[in-house]
Amino acid sequence: MSSFTSAQAALNWGAEHLLSKSPSSRLDALLLLARAMHCSKEQIIAGPQHPLTAAQEAQFNQFIARRARYEPIAYILGSQEFWGLPFKVSPAVLIPRPETELLVALALEALAGWQGDRTPRVLDLGAGSGCIACAIAHSMRAEGRSVQVVALEGSGAAVEIAHQNVLQLGVNELVELRHGDWNEFTCAELFDVVVSNPPYIAQGDTNRSPETDFEPKEALFSGVSGVEAIAAIVKLLPRMLVPGGVAFMEIGIDQAARVKELSSSTLQCCGFKQDLSGRDRVAVFRFTPAER
Ligand SMILES: C[S@@+](CC[C@H](N)C(=O)[O-])C[C@H]1O[C@@H](n2cnc3c(N)ncnc32)[C@H](O)[C@@H]1O
Repeated sequence: MSSFTSAQAALNWGAEHLLSKSPSSRLDALLLLARAMHCSKEQIIAGPQHPLTAAQEAQFNQFIARRARYEPIAYILGSQEFWGLPFKVSPAVLIPRPETELLVALALEALAGWQGDRTPRVLDLGAGSGCIACAIAHSMRAEGRSVQVVALEGSGAAVEIAHQNVLQLGVNELVELRHGDWNEFTCAELFDVVVSNPPYIAQGDTNRSPETDFEPKEALFSGVSGVEAIAAIVKLLPRMLVPGGVAFMEIGIDQAARVKELSSSTLQCCGFKQDLSGRDRVAVFRFTPAER
């Protein structure tokens, strides 16, 4: 028997316990309780008087203790929604962020105008959980259009998670995962669109939530400036894009001016796209090689 009289009582206790740790303490507690009780959050809302077993209570207590140490909900539950799709996550991968959906939207917009007589090719640099690559492939297929996506990732443990997501979402014929460093990436064929959400936090930047301590360092940090990975990718893009090809790269909230300076005569930074708060969050680059 549980010491909680009902799901409602457990929920109230959990939410209270997380109040000073999470801005979404009640929702967090609800999601964790639903997982502990093996039901949906809607079932708890519809049946708040439902009792817990002793095992469910023990599991819920453990979840709340983990969350109180700032472990992200997504790692506790092992999944995160992105672009309306469920992605498996573990501490081997960055938790997909809602702002990164802008990259997917921009890539799909670029592909919507595709006029070529072959299948368009997309490269995702730093695939992590595979969220961007899978979302693009999934949407293109849903529209009855074809695409070939190559998703490159430097961490073997992340590639394993991405592999599971590719299979779970049924996009394995459209997404090719590759394990490797983008600095050493060679491609026989060029790409029409490159997308990347590279690491862009400066080493030593302490202005971040305690939850990020649980995420892989190589997914977050990029040298002392924060723009080192972005600068490295910009240098590589002319070797990856077809003439006229476009790249969309997520950047940090204060990095637009520095990223603009990375423009060259062949690879122009042709602007930035804003997030819902109006901040420049995606840099757009176009490759226009000099005519021979
Ligand atoms: C910010 S995370 C983005 C993950 C995922 N695309 C997303 O948006 O959630 C950056 C990813 O780039 C990978 N990465 C960092 N440096 C790399 C490199 N030199 N070559 C390949 N991947 C790299 C990291 O392992 C990490 O998975």
